Amino acid sequence: MAYVTDLRVEHLDDPIGISDPCPRLSWRIVEAEPGAVQVAYEVEHTGDGLAPHRAKISSGRSQLVEWTSSPLRPRQRVNIRVRVWLEGKDEPTGWSEDVTIEQGLPADGWSAEFASPSLEAPTDGPRPAYLLRAEFDLPSNATRVRAYATARGVYDLLVNGGEIEREVLAPGWTSYNHRLVYRTYVLDGLVEPGRNVIGAWLADGWFRGRLGFNGGRWNVYGADVSLLLQLEVTTADGTVVNVPLTWRWTLAPITATGLYEGETHDQRRAVAGWATAGFDDSAWSVTTSVPRPPAVRLVTPSAPPVRVIERLRPVTVERLPGGRVRLDFGQNISGKLQVTASAPTGHIIELHHAEVLEDGELATRPLRSATSVDTYVFAGVASETWTPRFSIHGFRYAEIVGWPEDQDPAAAVEALVVHSDMTRRGWFASSHELLDRFHDNVVWSMRDNFVGLPTDCPQRDERLGWTGDIQVFAPAAAFLYDATGFLSNWLDDLRAEQIEHGTVRNFHPWLDCGFPADPSAGWGDAAVIVPWVLYERSGDTAILQRYLPAMTDWVDQVDRLTGGTGLWNSGFQLGDWLDPHAPPERPGESATDPYLVATAYHAHTARLVARSAQILGEDRLAERYDAIADRATQAFQHEFLAPSGRVVSDTVTALAIAIVFDLLASESQRRDAGLRLAALVERGDNLIRTGFIGTPLVCDALASTGNIDTAYHLLLQERCPSWLYPVTMGATTVWERWDSMLPDGTVNPGEMTSFNHYALGAVVDFMHRTVAGLAPGEPGYASVRVAPQPGGGLRYARAHHDSPFGRIATSWTRTGDRFDLQVTVPPGVRAQVTLPSGEGPFSVGSGSHDLSCSFRRPEDDPKPARAWNIHNPDERREMEAVLALQADEAPGGSHDHAG
Ligand code: BGC
Repeated sequence: MAYVTDLRVEHLDDPIGISDPCPRLSWRIVEAEPGAVQVAYEVEHTGDGLAPHRAKISSGRSQLVEWTSSPLRPRQRVNIRVRVWLEGKDEPTGWSEDVTIEQGLPADGWSAEFASPSLEAPTDGPRPAYLLRAEFDLPSNATRVRAYATARGVYDLLVNGGEIEREVLAPGWTSYNHRLVYRTYVLDGLVEPGRNVIGAWLADGWFRGRLGFNGGRWNVYGADVSLLLQLEVTTADGTVVNVPLTWRWTLAPITATGLYEGETHDQRRAVAGWATAGFDDSAWSVTTSVPRPPAVRLVTPSAPPVRVIERLRPVTVERLPGGRVRLDFGQNISGKLQVTASAPTGHIIELHHAEVLEDGELATRPLRSATSVDTYVFAGVASETWTPRFSIHGFRYAEIVGWPEDQDPAAAVEALVVHSDMTRRGWFASSHELLDRFHDNVVWSMRDNFVGLPTDCPQRDERLGWTGDIQVFAPAAAFLYDATGFLSNWLDDLRAEQIEHGTVRNFHPWLDCGFPADPSAGWGDAAVIVPWVLYERSGDTAILQRYLPAMTDWVDQVDRLTGGTGLWNSGFQLGDWLDPHAPPERPGESATDPYLVATAYHAHTARLVARSAQILGEDRLAERYDAIADRATQAFQHEFLAPSGRVVSDTVTALAIAIVFDLLASESQRRDAGLRLAALVERGDNLIRTGFIGTPLVCDALASTGNIDTAYHLLLQERCPSWLYPVTMGATTVWERWDSMLPDGTVNPGEMTSFNHYALGAVVDFMHRTVAGLAPGEPGYASVRVAPQPGGGLRYARAHHDSPFGRIATSWTRTGDRFDLQVTVPPGVRAQVTLPSGEGPFSVGSGSHDLSCSFRRPEDDPKPARAWNIHNPDERREMEAVLALQADEAPGGSHDHAG
């Protein structure tokens, strides 16, 4: 029996404390008969004095449907549920489960002020954390109790002694000068009539702690940390009373804490009972009120909270000389340790962290100045359990100095995996073990770097929202997890700062730590590409609407930089960052002309803006950006393209970008460029020759020009540099550099060497779309394109994705010359299936479908010696391309265009 499930409000996991008065709803239909199609739906609203209100609407839509009741008022709480009618059925499905929505405060509804422990202006260096407490009386007729809270700093709340949220590092890092996220805490059931206490731990976090590289900066957003908490009680007659709070503070047992530095906690200074009523706080100081800065908007969350998502036990424990214990958790994570031990009062343990070992020791050099050492001083009670509260690290290995000798660390130490609590959406598996481990590594690098904002890496003194990294990774992210709310939150910061600075910076939130503030192609283009990808994968045109000004402003800015010529050939560029041929200390010195990359990106994103405008019905705007895109394309062709389809900068990246961004002038040029690309890859021994820009494109460029076998050679290469080389070296995450660890096990000498960057893992999107064959046909997977291109000797591959409409799955196997494909399509969706034999496309509706064909790839046969048929024009062209290559022995070719 079909039913409605997964009723969602906007892109939120938990719609408590939202600000949209008319949130849109989405749901999925499960267990429907094959081919079932929704013809109508009904939404029921109840709550807050509302008589049940039902609206039945004839429509097949199940995604982001408009709110059908009156707009929600601030603080209003309603329950909703949905049922649908399927074609040919008189009876509706059963109701979905109820979902509760609650509105947050109106913008002018804040009367509380920030409460700050006023200390002398802090000196640079890790600062202590603070405890804040406030008592209040709850009337006996209270029916609803809410705390609306945030901090300039990081905080944890307690009510009557108990922690109320599992959130870590709230409120997360946003561009605090523009936006500060507050949460709505439901305190019903945690408070009682009479005396109650709210307590808070408060520390520096991103607001005031050290941020950035080159030594970083302290107090980026201000010199005082403070807590904002508004307590509201609703009484039986519906009156909302704002309960004024007087906060008092003292120093917490956390004597020093910093995101990079680590945390020191002295349990001897713990204050027993501080967050319960009746505690004598007369020795505590009263906080200072800090007015809310008018320019800062208090916003409700669109990203899920950061939480402890998983706990890992060590896979090995080693006792080392000097009383050290080394633990290997078998997985590189972002997170922290939790230890349980007993030791005499004043006994100290130190927890050191590292991603890899080098010469048998923790390799801490890649952390640069992020020392990442946590320290705990025992109070001396029977058993003490501790985890740092406000610091996290990127690590697989840990060493504990001072571990009590008589206790077994294996049972007493856990690694807590910390990241944004997003819903997993996509999976991939194949017959290739290393490829599967690589895919797992990409998932881990995403998890480790989606901690409130999309960061480059989780371990060193950086952890910044680099635009280029997420720009290339966004499609993979959107397949693997529901990242729409998460990335919108970050885009709101990008947009706010773009308005402030008149440009998109290379990372957001931006801070000045000496890195060029100039716009750079591939990085600033995130302003266009990330919203576009979110739209493409979610089908939500409101995303395009919301970010269209960011998109147009970026393209306009670049248009101005080109002087209206379309050719972006001056100024700072990061180019094909981390091209393996660039010297370790100069990762921007790629073989590919950075201005070729810049002009290609300009053409590409101008085109995406034109398409976005067209989708939004803004035809004039669409024309304008099409004209910019045409200009940039012509400039690209004029400057960088020979009529033969050769691209100056005769590199893999240059060819791949020209092919994927559709910058070639004709089909034959495109084919020739594909042949040249395949030849370059093969001549390069199927080793990677691309950096951040070329890497996500090269397999698509090969596959779309008929060179799928070469794409597989590259994808499955195991020698360095390649995607699988790190896997052969035991990597459990994606590395920043192709050779972050050199084949001899030493760490790359470059000072910038991380073992956890997702950017080079962007190729998993190709694996999903082309290896497994699961790609969106229309935005939001309203239709699906299934066109697997098997190869590389893979015997099977499969992927599934929980799309907005429900689960889509593809699974193929090869047995001899036979290719079998199973495709599963959710209700309301059609798939266009093309078999690798070329048969199709076949259009199939919801349900499970088996298709097969006979199929054999040449790579399954021993490689025959090449004999050219010069009478066949295609073969002749290919032969000429290969011969030209042989004649042109110089690495990188002889056509390099000085950039
Ligand atoms: C970051 C990158 C980033 C790059 C650009 C690095 O330090 O870790 O991932 O995109 O700088 O300059």
